[in-house]
Amino acid sequence: MINPFDMVLFGGGGDLALRKLLPALYRAFREGSLAEGCRILPVSRRQSDVDQYIEAAHRALQKYLGDGEYCASSWKGFSQLLRPVALDIAVPDAQWEHLSDILGSDSQRVRIFYLAIPPAVFGPCCENLSIKGLITENSRVVVEKPLGYNAQTSDEINSKIASYFPEDSIFRIDHYLGKETVQNLLALRFSNVLFEHLWDAKTIDHIQISISETVGLEGRAGFYDETGAMRDMVQNHLLQLLCLIAMESPNSMSAKNIRAEKIKVLEALRPLTGALVDENVVRGQYVAGEINGGDVPGYLDELDGGTSSTETFVAIRAHIDSWRWAGVPFYLRTGKRMEKRCAEIVVQYKNVSHHVYDETAGNITPNRLVIRLQPEESIKLVLMAKKMDSLTTELQPAELNLTLSDTYDSFRSDAYKRLMLDAAANNSALFIHRDEVAAAWAWVDPIIEHWRETNNQPQPYPAGSWGPEEADSLLSRSDRHWFNAK
Ligand code: BG6
Repeated sequence: MINPFDMVLFGGGGDLALRKLLPALYRAFREGSLAEGCRILPVSRRQSDVDQYIEAAHRALQKYLGDGEYCASSWKGFSQLLRPVALDIAVPDAQWEHLSDILGSDSQRVRIFYLAIPPAVFGPCCENLSIKGLITENSRVVVEKPLGYNAQTSDEINSKIASYFPEDSIFRIDHYLGKETVQNLLALRFSNVLFEHLWDAKTIDHIQISISETVGLEGRAGFYDETGAMRDMVQNHLLQLLCLIAMESPNSMSAKNIRAEKIKVLEALRPLTGALVDENVVRGQYVAGEINGGDVPGYLDELDGGTSSTETFVAIRAHIDSWRWAGVPFYLRTGKRMEKRCAEIVVQYKNVSHHVYDETAGNITPNRLVIRLQPEESIKLVLMAKKMDSLTTELQPAELNLTLSDTYDSFRSDAYKRLMLDAAANNSALFIHRDEVAAAWAWVDPIIEHWRETNNQPQPYPAGSWGPEEADSLLSRSDRHWFNAK
């Protein structure tokens, strides 16, 4: 059990805190992972928000918890941990004293400052924590993506935080790393003799990593239109998944060793600049369409008209210039308002080297390992097997399927719960180091820069589709195709 800690949630009344962070902490409480004495201090700007906070938190839990998760008696216990505080993070005035009084003077007690606030106020917030003497030797800061807008702004933000917290107290969250199946990726690769020997250019034809969403802007138009899919999803979530799939075995599961391997992957990514961007990257923006039988407006309509060349979809063909991966394309894809919500990694093996079955009798498809992160979490291996009850040697694909929720009764994964508890336990293996952020921006920046220089306009795709046709051509020109979630 992790020692009692204080979790200070800056941005405590914001969407992230209410939708993700409080439900995650409630789950941790309900399963008994919060030791007696843990406290949660959501920070809001106005006193009136504080007065109503407990009620807002209650409503949020009822709304955002899954079926059967909310229970009145657990809520009662959980609500006792909440100590809302009113203060304006940018102003070092007397309001901070109240926070300081609640935190007390025990410097051994772990304090976690979770910055669920815009990066522009990370600096002032850390500075005021420091001025008020609230950063103790056992304090940690958790920061949310996006960390900056490009390499330079990200570096500025990181430097600002680093003036107040040492690197090993900075926990940069990428919530994809907290997903159970993402961690299972490492277990699968490095704890089974089966796969690791079949994990390179000799046996693998290509790898696809797709994160498709059905949602659109969800009230975040201002943020999203400034950001776009490349910065919002590729620079972080997709590149992190790529690292875990492609990296060499770390010497141990320590944060330092894992990070070292991930950085090698990022540094080996073949740069995409100039004409290579046009050849290997597709940008899209959704127009009106239909999802699950309902009409859906286009991106520009969601923005309330006007024009915008922000991409809501990106597909990339990437290469990792290393001994292991020479010649193996990695196809990355993400988009909003696509046909299905799904995050999936497909490892497509090469075909058998010689067909012993009569080609007309068998339709041999290469093996495929499909790792699904959501909506359900599963690992599936597609094999070829003989067609049952057939007198011929006809073959058909058969699946070995591990669906985590079927296999483990009480399985209910919550990435934020896992990551907040890791921060409390001072385990940074699933967090991102400053050098990783820098290496990811170093690869992404030239692509965005090329779009800017060439005034590149995103290709339209209907909401409810799998993206622009150009994304299909990215694969079909080498006789491949996307495996779209069913
Ligand atoms: C966030 C992005 O990091 O991840 C959002 O900012 C996106 O735009 C979200 O919708 C997707 O997360 P998940 O866990 O729902 O796939």
